[in-house]
Amino acid sequence: MSALDVTVFPKDFAWGAATAAYQIEGGWNMDGRGPSVWDTFCHVKGRVFEDHNGDVACNSYQLWKEDLKCIQQLGLTHYRLSISWSRLLPDGTTNHVNPKGVAYYNEVIDDLIACDVTPMITLYHMDLPQALQDLGGWNSGDIADIFESYARFCFKTFGDRVKLWITLNEPYVCAKLGHEDGTFAPGIKDPGISVYLTGHNMLRAHTKAWHTYNAHFRPLQGGQVSLALNSDWAEPLNPDCPKDAEATERYKDFTLGWFACPVFCTGDYPESMRFRIENRNLDLGYKQGSRLPHFSKEEPTPLGTADFFALNYYTSRKVKDLSSAGKNNELSFVGDQGAEGVVDPSWPISGVHWLAVVPDGLRKLLKCIKDTYSSLPIYITENGFSQMGPVQIEDADRSQFYQDTLQEVGKAISQDGVNVKAYFAWSLLDNFEWNDGFNVRFGLFHVDFSTPELKRTIYRSGREYAAVISKHRSQTKPKSV
Ligand code: GAL
Repeated sequence: MSALDVTVFPKDFAWGAATAAYQIEGGWNMDGRGPSVWDTFCHVKGRVFEDHNGDVACNSYQLWKEDLKCIQQLGLTHYRLSISWSRLLPDGTTNHVNPKGVAYYNEVIDDLIACDVTPMITLYHMDLPQALQDLGGWNSGDIADIFESYARFCFKTFGDRVKLWITLNEPYVCAKLGHEDGTFAPGIKDPGISVYLTGHNMLRAHTKAWHTYNAHFRPLQGGQVSLALNSDWAEPLNPDCPKDAEATERYKDFTLGWFACPVFCTGDYPESMRFRIENRNLDLGYKQGSRLPHFSKEEPTPLGTADFFALNYYTSRKVKDLSSAGKNNELSFVGDQGAEGVVDPSWPISGVHWLAVVPDGLRKLLKCIKDTYSSLPIYITENGFSQMGPVQIEDADRSQFYQDTLQEVGKAISQDGVNVKAYFAWSLLDNFEWNDGFNVRFGLFHVDFSTPELKRTIYRSGREYAAVISKHRSQTKPKSV
């Protein structure tokens, strides 16, 4: 990555990598951990590639010190990990605390700090405790208060050392894939209804957790809290077609705007969502309420509940209008959205079918976020490139991807004036990639899942990322006198 000009990145730029508990930890039933919805989901045949599951995964629960070596080898300044809620609180509530879970995360946090690596902790990365799912999960109104208690417990237990918190990872994905399409845990297929309720309760949960931190922990601990939102960059399929242009705005509103608008702009959902959903209720004769819930005046507002903008970016789409297409005659999120994102045939595909590689989409998205939503610092909390098929340790294509992407981030900073503070590569390790199991690899380190040692081996892309970090750190090190 020699061509990359690292001087455009600010001195205190955070160079990170990210993981998530269910995808790496394993130890699914060890030392008092309760099951999560992903354990239940994977243990039913036919849902995940070749019925893989996260029972063992990278065994980071037992091999944490190996992960730490990887982190040090890369020279990361920051490491983003998530807490397995049910490892800490087996039934999801603070009525039962698992001391071994507390000890595990204490060790991880202490080791990171001892190695001069700043931890960023995600409280929720897709793995709801099964006991809470049994009570209605994200569709139950009670979940927001239960999440708030969990968050409070984590702030109290770890917040003396952890200063960067993400409450929720990708509420869009959890709501859409988990409660509309049913392809992610908990596997609910309830088109056009559950998806909005899930999103709403996730926003309520985040809001309560942020307010708790703000009122009770920030004064002493001085940290920052946000939620990680995923977004594609989107452009009209036919730039001369006004309907495609409108559809593109709807596409953005129904993904990023759905969560960003309440938190960063208005305290409510985008107008286009309210308009489309209410109109379709009329068209389809749906009379059981508004489907897109309203924020109660009795509860704290989501507006202003983020201390930075956390973005997960992977890919881009060209958007075509679907507002009057045939499948619009039934309740569904896509029907409400009235738009479809397609892959431009000129974009290369990395590993998985959905991941078209469009590094300059990230630059455009960063500028759009600055112009539309927030002037707060932006943390890129995930971005990566997958590999499928035979393992290639010399992964020249992924190395090139990181080089191209970091160049675009550099342009966003130096030419567009976007305040980007952090870049977290997804992922530190090859891991359990949800429906694709271990068949799709996103790591900077390869993990040999065929042997019990689960040996970690750095990919070329990892070596080159380490070189970028080292170059940046050496250029910004204070000169000794
Ligand atoms: C994100 C998710 C990660 C990871 C990544 C690659 O949506 O937060 O857990 O799996 O996608 O697909």
